[in-house]
Amino acid sequence: MAGMVHFFLNGEEVQTTEAAGILVLDYLRQRAQLMGTKEGCREGDCGACAVLIGELEGERVVYKPVTSCLMPLGELHGRHLVTIEGLNGEALSPVQQAIVDEGATQCGFCTPGIVVSLMGYVMEDGAEITSNGVKAALSGHLCRCTGYRSLKQVEPYLKASIGEETGIEALVANGVLSAYFLDMPERLRAIPPFGSQNGQVSPEVFIAGGTDIYVQQGDALPEIQVHVLNLHPEMKGISRRAGYLHVGALTTFEEFARDPEVIRLIPEIQDYMFLIASWQIRNRATLGGNIINASPIGDMTVLLLALEALLVFRDGQTSRTVPMTRFFKGYKQLDRSPSEILTEILIPEPAARTRVGWEKVSKRKCLDIASVNSAIKVRCEDGVIQEIGLAMGGVAPVPLYMKETMAFLTGRPISAETVQEAFPIAQREVAPISDVRGSAAYKRLLVRQLLMAHFTRLFPELMQARDFYETY
Ligand SMILES: Cc1cc2nc3c(=O)[nH]c(=O)nc-3n(C[C@H](O)[C@H](O)[C@H](O)COP(=O)(O)OP(=O)(O)OC[C@H]3O[C@@H](n4cnc5c(N)ncnc54)[C@H](O)[C@@H]3O)c2cc1C
Ligand code: FES
Ligand code: FES
Repeated sequence: MAGMVHFFLNGEEVQTTEAAGILVLDYLRQRAQLMGTKEGCREGDCGACAVLIGELEGERVVYKPVTSCLMPLGELHGRHLVTIEGLNGEALSPVQQAIVDEGATQCGFCTPGIVVSLMGYVMEDGAEITSNGVKAALSGHLCRCTGYRSLKQVEPYLKASIGEETGIEALVANGVLSAYFLDMPERLRAIPPFGSQNGQVSPEVFIAGGTDIYVQQGDALPEIQVHVLNLHPEMKGISRRAGYLHVGALTTFEEFARDPEVIRLIPEIQDYMFLIASWQIRNRATLGGNIINASPIGDMTVLLLALEALLVFRDGQTSRTVPMTRFFKGYKQLDRSPSEILTEILIPEPAARTRVGWEKVSKRKCLDIASVNSAIKVRCEDGVIQEIGLAMGGVAPVPLYMKETMAFLTGRPISAETVQEAFPIAQREVAPISDVRGSAAYKRLLVRQLLMAHFTRLFPELMQARDFYETY
């Protein structure tokens, strides 16, 4: 991808021919000389580099905090990039004042990123300021000196100063945000789409959210031709048609979890997000990237595998559909050629009364990848398991579709005894290895525990944890 990247940086219009694969963080600090955005881990783990990205959604611009250390400059085309400098006014904003009043900053290194994420939180239309909301907004931020207690306590200060007046218009009216935010919808609409002004260049690498590929190949990407997939809005969005939920491959984790159709299918999806990355990463990480990265412990991958999703690929003018259950061939080996783009994920609509569950165990409860994760869909009728989809991650070189365990459970009465009888079959199916995420024996234990957790969580009226422990 080569050509002019045209965007707004705070209140200023920018047109640049810098390489599309340069990190937004590096652009800000090295080219634009805006040092308020800090560089910490460069791996999405600390939140020091958080910025807001504003994107047109209909008539409005919607802002989300993201980590600029994993985002390509090319993706800024047609967007509004807001840094801490663009949020500063004449006086401290209520968010900054809350941090000062609560003594929630010492060296100040983490503070700009924290202010950015908290501003992103109160800029959401109708956002209610709550203690859990503040915690969720700060989920991706590390503070080495002050500690989190004071940070969590900013909520009453925010509530007192901002109250119900959240959303961009209210914040501008109250002098919390600069007036230039109000012109942004019109100014962004005036930027022509990227493709309309540039010749086609054969790219070497696809970048979606960038949250895996920049961690793996961060030094190489600014030097090569990259294809920034997020410049294709048609690969986003969720709709229900012809027996499938059609999910664009560029749908982020956060967009997926907030979609009403997804919530109907997976009622606890928003609770699951608490155990997956941080808000800033979930605003970037796409479902497609999770699948193509092919980690055996991808959280969305395991969920989509249990739901027996289909993958739609495009290569030039040709397209084909592959069942996810046959997609993973070996460790990071896929039924896909390097030029194929995953455009859509089709989730078959389960029959009525199907229950869906997801479980994850990791070394650290939040902001950690799984030791073992698992997802299940089960439909029972008259006390008998009619249909089941089961997947486990972290127990084989690939995300594992548990065919033998599923075959055993299908047609059996649903009870703690049946689930217990399935344990040895599941153990024969998995082949975990010992690594930093746990020993093989520990992962085998988790296979049993997660199977138990699925059934006790989804069928509390039929079985509880004690039904299992009494027999051990
Ligand atoms: C701090 C941090 C925490 C994380 N926590 C979790 C976690 O809790 N759970 C979890 O599962 N993952 C986690 N991840 C990993 C990562 O966020 C996910 O795997 C994410 O889904 C990757 O998606 P992406 O859009 O960022 O992919 P990218 O990094 O953009 O791409 C990944 C790979 O897929 C290819 N690709 C992407 N999209 C397409 C497409 N549509 N067609 C063809 N090829 C494509 C790219 O070329 C690349 O090879 C974490 C990452 C970070 C940095
Ligand atoms: S520098 Fe740590 S998240 Fe970006
Ligand atoms: S105040 Fe020093 S890192 Fe947070």
